[in-house]
Amino acid sequence: MSEPILSIRGLTKTYKGGTRALDSVDLDIRPGEIFALLGPNGAGKTTLIGAVCGLVRPTAGTITAFGQDLSRDWRSARARIGLVPQELATDMFETVWRAIAYSQGLFGKPYNAARLEEILKSLSLWDKKDAQIRALSGGMKRRVLIAKALAHEPELLFLDEPTAGVDVELRKDMWQQIAALKQRGVTIILTTHYIEEAEEMADRVGIIQGGRILMVDEKAAMMERLGTTEAVIDLAAPLAVLPSEIAAFPVELGEGGTRLIYRGGNGQGGGRAQVAQLTQALTRANIGYTSLDIHDSSLEDIFVGLLGEKEAA
Ligand SMILES: Nc1ncnc2c1ncn2[C@@H]1O[C@H](COP(=O)(O)OP(=O)(O)OP(=O)(O)O)[C@@H](O)[C@H]1O
Ligand SMILES: [Mg+2]
Repeated sequence: MSEPILSIRGLTKTYKGGTRALDSVDLDIRPGEIFALLGPNGAGKTTLIGAVCGLVRPTAGTITAFGQDLSRDWRSARARIGLVPQELATDMFETVWRAIAYSQGLFGKPYNAARLEEILKSLSLWDKKDAQIRALSGGMKRRVLIAKALAHEPELLFLDEPTAGVDVELRKDMWQQIAALKQRGVTIILTTHYIEEAEEMADRVGIIQGGRILMVDEKAAMMERLGTTEAVIDLAAPLAVLPSEIAAFPVELGEGGTRLIYRGGNGQGGGRAQVAQLTQALTRANIGYTSLDIHDSSLEDIFVGLLGEKEAA
């Protein structure tokens, strides 16, 4: 496998006042991937991004980007890293055009009006290029932040909750933008509270809580390993005991024998196939049912389950 584009070892951050926002974080990011960092409020996501982008001074640990130790060779590596911050901190009186032109030059890229035009058009901001940023809607302001990050053509791009407060349609738009960046070879690390976003976009997902990475995995593997299917089957008449051919499935009887609950499969449709077999077995055993409700656990279920486990431990 190719060298990681970003390698974090033992990264710890204790803020003044004693909050330990990061606690010995190890993380490798692969070139060209979309990595989603998921975690509740205060988990340390923004601190992690800040440490890589030079906004937060680590208490301990090393960060290597593009093979360079950031503590030694910060500026040249930083020029290859883009950031769309969580907070809208940009000059509100600036025009859209000037704000992104400024970002383009910030790390020594030459002024390239054609490239800026292309970026603004791709984000549907072209007709707003002469507007002051304060006159834009919240979602447009967020797009300006993305335009600014793109203007200096980063190889590694951090998006800190890129779609927070953005309407559904625009969110889908931004997913497309992000997918297009990946096509161009940009490596992307995003944080989000929308699990559906990680599920939709990411190649790998990392779960962070209390400054610790609980788990990192391929999205599909995470679904496969932890994902289950649940089916709730309401029976036409109550059952006292399950016939052995039904009890052979991962089922339990509830609601005074009127409801059969199936939990099984390992994501990827395995559970659904088994539920189909279960319904055939019910029919063969002459057990009638009035309704069948089936759902696959989402990344969200997995996430909540994992956090619950850690809290109980
Ligand atoms: N500048 C700061 N000074 C002191 N404590 C801070 C500072 N910034 C963050 N913290 C604390 O560090 C912890 C991690 O915060 P961080 O902003 O990294 O979390 P986050 O995962 O980005 O959360 P959110 O999902 O709400 O954006 C929190 O307990 C927070 O209160
Ligand atoms: Mg944050």
